Amino acid sequence: MDTLTTSLPTNLRNDGLRAWVDEMVDLCTPDAVVWCDGSQDEYDRLCQELVDAGTFIRLNQQHRPDSFLARSDPSDVARVEDRTYICSRSKGDAGPTNNWADPHEMRRTLRGLFDGCMRGRTMYVIPFSMGPIGSPIAQIGVEITDSAYVVVNMRIMTRMGSAVLDALGDHGQFIPCLHTVGAPLDDGAQDVAWPCNPDVKYIVHFPETREIWSYGSGYGGNALLGKKCLALRIASTMGRDEGWLAEHMLIMGVEDPTGQKTYVAAAFPSACGKTNFAMLEPPAALSESGWKVTTIGDDIAWIKPGPDGKVYAINPEAGYFGVAPGTSMATNPSAMRSVHANTIFTNVALTDEGDVWWEGMDGAAPAHAIDWQGNDWTPDAGRKAAHPNSRFTAPAGQNPVIDPRWDDPAGVPLSAFIFGGRRSGTMPLVHQSFNWAHGVYLAATMGSETTAAAFGEQGVVRRDPFAMLPFAGYHMADYFNHWLSFGRNLSNPPRIFGVNWFRVDADGRFVWPGFGENMRVLQWIIERSRGKAYALESPIGWMPRHQDLNWEGLEGFSEADFLTAMAVDRKEWDREILSQDELFIRLFDRLPKELLAIRDLMLSAIWRSPDHWEMTPDPT
Ligand code: GTP
Ligand code: SPV
Ligand code: MN
Repeated sequence: MDTLTTSLPTNLRNDGLRAWVDEMVDLCTPDAVVWCDGSQDEYDRLCQELVDAGTFIRLNQQHRPDSFLARSDPSDVARVEDRTYICSRSKGDAGPTNNWADPHEMRRTLRGLFDGCMRGRTMYVIPFSMGPIGSPIAQIGVEITDSAYVVVNMRIMTRMGSAVLDALGDHGQFIPCLHTVGAPLDDGAQDVAWPCNPDVKYIVHFPETREIWSYGSGYGGNALLGKKCLALRIASTMGRDEGWLAEHMLIMGVEDPTGQKTYVAAAFPSACGKTNFAMLEPPAALSESGWKVTTIGDDIAWIKPGPDGKVYAINPEAGYFGVAPGTSMATNPSAMRSVHANTIFTNVALTDEGDVWWEGMDGAAPAHAIDWQGNDWTPDAGRKAAHPNSRFTAPAGQNPVIDPRWDDPAGVPLSAFIFGGRRSGTMPLVHQSFNWAHGVYLAATMGSETTAAAFGEQGVVRRDPFAMLPFAGYHMADYFNHWLSFGRNLSNPPRIFGVNWFRVDADGRFVWPGFGENMRVLQWIIERSRGKAYALESPIGWMPRHQDLNWEGLEGFSEADFLTAMAVDRKEWDREILSQDELFIRLFDRLPKELLAIRDLMLSAIWRSPDHWEMTPDPT
């Protein structure tokens, strides 16, 4: 690895930043310090160094220009929720859904771990902006890391480098983010392809002082600290204090046949379809009639009230860190086109042609490949070629359906929020909350089923309020309260909807075709949020009847299928409300009383209805 120490950037004028970097150099004792300028030259040089070090494999220039494959250590393949801490001064402020540790004790632990942690390595200093540089909604962070893999990923995922130092100026504030892979190299020891600490990992947030310390992992949200750590955990506490929202949401623009544009944001838990929905390609019949979807963001939204009583959202990121398996021309053509070049792949399979492959890609599986652990693989190997959480890192600008306003510093006005988990039963395809507080209830009680691949036990519902369970930087019940008060101050708040693409029939098959067909549900949502489409009052919210959705060009989905997808079953809902109560009891010390009142109203509506509430095929 290059051991050149670059001189200080000429536009570094922020004494606070200089002092912090000096202090961290003394603590971590790297061999060299490099201030990243964010240039293409720097990116190319670091990618070549990663190739030379064996971390990157350069993919075939014809098939996948300027793209690379990295294989992580098998112990370092995903976020580590049990090693993630919110170290607020009081334990109560972190709440029962977060790991908490005393900030003084944690600082002592971290100082010990970071002492000399970059021996034999280069320290990179990465100034980055979450959001368009200079936007009133954006925030500046500076990540210090000893991983060149992190630097090149950060260059895709954020606005990074010299321009951020200009924006920071003499006295600007930044969020310090310190990261190490936790694997010092003593006296010329040979490095490994994916350095990390297989035994010790800490992802630590100090919300009051707005600091992030991450030790031992080089992967995704553990190491790209602008993403979950800054843009969700730290930003959510900033939003609570300053009156805005930091959410695990995609943002999309929807253009109707008259050319009118509506923006919506949607929260689905990790690996539940945000990237798919954000890039949705409408079915032919609907796109021919003029429906069009464009992407603002696929994972995170920062949302602020505007002077006109509307709420405005920006995507703080500049790239996509998307789940690879399941992505294909059939399920997400725009994602496939986004990764055609200039993309970093992590933990996917390598084909004999030097291209990438993963389960669910179009066409037949390759007869031979190298799997994500570097072993020979054939279709009969009996194991997956790509890790289930393998990902691509691709620049947002390569998305063919990127919205023209995706990096507008002012953000886009939102008309609707959509919430949806992975539920094999209970939850209908779509419903609309009766009002804002009921919508907060709907989002707060959201659940999602664990899958056999990820958690061992299948079909277990985990409550994932607002898809923020692993990402809220403070007490979840305070977070509900913040949402309630945020809505109270809006004259015309966005409408709130619930969706479920994952309901299965008696044979275990998905009832709803999903993916592009989700446009039909989205069309109704858009029309409802403009006060247009019809809806029926069900026990749990407003619902479309069969004739309220646009079915043009959809074969093989009958009205009976629709009724199955929309059914509200009292036995299932009795169980559902009991299970929601478990979350409410956990959060009881700070739970807003509105939510319990709404639960009781829901119960009474469910018990007023027939055992199995079904809309009649032809209501009068
Ligand atoms: P993070 O990046 O982890 O926050 O997740 P994400 O929400 O962006 O996840 P992503 O879009 O990558 O989710 C992919 C998973 O959702 C795959 O298992 C897809 O098959 C599944 N999926 C997405 N849309 C649909 C749909 O409409 N129907 C069904 N049945 N599955 C879907
Ligand atoms: C998620 O897990 O929700 C992600 C991936 O978006 S990571 O950035 O690794 O957290
Ligand atoms: Mn995510």
